[in-house]
Amino acid sequence: MSDEGSLSCSFGMKTRVGMYELGRTLGEGTFAKVKYAKHMRTGGQYAIKILEKETILKNKMVELIKREISTMKLVKHPNIVQLHEVMASKTKVYFVLEYVTGGEFFDKISQQGRLPEAEARKYFQQLINAVDYCHSRGVYHRDLKPENLLLDADGNLKISDFGLSALSEQCWKDGLLHTTCGTPNYVAPEVVYENGYDGAKADLWSCGVILFVLMAGFLPFEENNVLQLYKKIRKGEYVCPSWFSSGAQNLLKKILNPSAKQRITVAQMVDDPWFREGYKPAKLTVDENINLDDVDAIFSESNAHFVVEKRRTQVSGPTPLNAFDLISFCPGLNLSGLFEMKQEANQETRFTSKHPAHEIISKMEETAKPLGFSVEKHHYKMTLRGVKTGRKGYLFIATEVFEVAPSFFVVEVRKACGDAHEYHKFCQSFSQGLKDIVWQTEAGKDQQSSG
Ligand code: ADE
Repeated sequence: MSDEGSLSCSFGMKTRVGMYELGRTLGEGTFAKVKYAKHMRTGGQYAIKILEKETILKNKMVELIKREISTMKLVKHPNIVQLHEVMASKTKVYFVLEYVTGGEFFDKISQQGRLPEAEARKYFQQLINAVDYCHSRGVYHRDLKPENLLLDADGNLKISDFGLSALSEQCWKDGLLHTTCGTPNYVAPEVVYENGYDGAKADLWSCGVILFVLMAGFLPFEENNVLQLYKKIRKGEYVCPSWFSSGAQNLLKKILNPSAKQRITVAQMVDDPWFREGYKPAKLTVDENINLDDVDAIFSESNAHFVVEKRRTQVSGPTPLNAFDLISFCPGLNLSGLFEMKQEANQETRFTSKHPAHEIISKMEETAKPLGFSVEKHHYKMTLRGVKTGRKGYLFIATEVFEVAPSFFVVEVRKACGDAHEYHKFCQSFSQGLKDIVWQTEAGKDQQSSG
């Protein structure tokens, strides 16, 4: 099985939390970062979601979050990302999650376009079954959107982030129009406009938007202006493409009803002829031996259970890579993979450069800005943030320069957040803009003469 550690992990810069060794960043969301992790004793692979304690304390949500997390530890459903363990340090909370290897579900749509109706229905049935299962245990998601839908190795849907719904809700209430909440396209009108609402009905609305996107390949409610967008959502103003069957249109009309009271329930949905077709509710297992002590300990006054994040101190230059690091990164001692401007899992790109690190950083900054990105620099790491919201909210790109030798660098460019298709388009323009400093983008091909 491949080690998913990022460069910074693979090359002797490992960070450890408790018994886990952290690797590459798998995703970055509104409140948290998700990192790949390996259990040091068992070798088991996990995803660890890292949240600042302050985010929870600031919003006075300790009890609510503890309750939801406890419930999620007890939840076991094949279409829900399993929560294995919770750890805390003085300032952070770590959720040890099931590692899901099939990538983001919507990357599939970005690449393949819309799905055939029968395939969309299969995923929708998995989604509804999982959502209903959590609802029956009193847990609501309140922020179902593409970033929270993953695929497992068998191509089944997995929902992540159940259990943090209190934070999502607060976000919409606090900052109706602020960008940190991500995309509002999937949020039910009552979440934004009403005080107190039915979490189950709100989640069903989001499932309806997801179903529409699966079958159409585009959103039902879309506007450049966010106020206009809210207006459309509030009125439930959308048009089904001609290829939607009348059965699907009929069901969508019952889900995307702006009146939560009149909106369809899951109990009614399972009787809908379009939904019912081939519906096989998941088989559930119950684990009797789940312990909730770790959840109680996260916010306890005593620091006896706290883990410590151990990391090598930041050096002043780019992170160094030695020959061993490089070789260990490339399976079969084949170095060519390092020199390709290829998309790894469609999220990651690398190139080499013989220009000084500060020049690489400046060139990337000056190339990204005209492409519509704001730039945040931290030593030799840089985050590029799309100024305009895209199909899956703002596009965030993380970059890092690594030093192989004093005049030889590897640059990693990675989609941290946002739509895969928009990221690929960005990569094309970005690599064009960087051609003066790129040494190799494909094995053996020089990009410029200065090398
Ligand atoms: N990205 C976010 N959560 C994840 C998970 N549980 N597994 C893999 N990638 C993820």
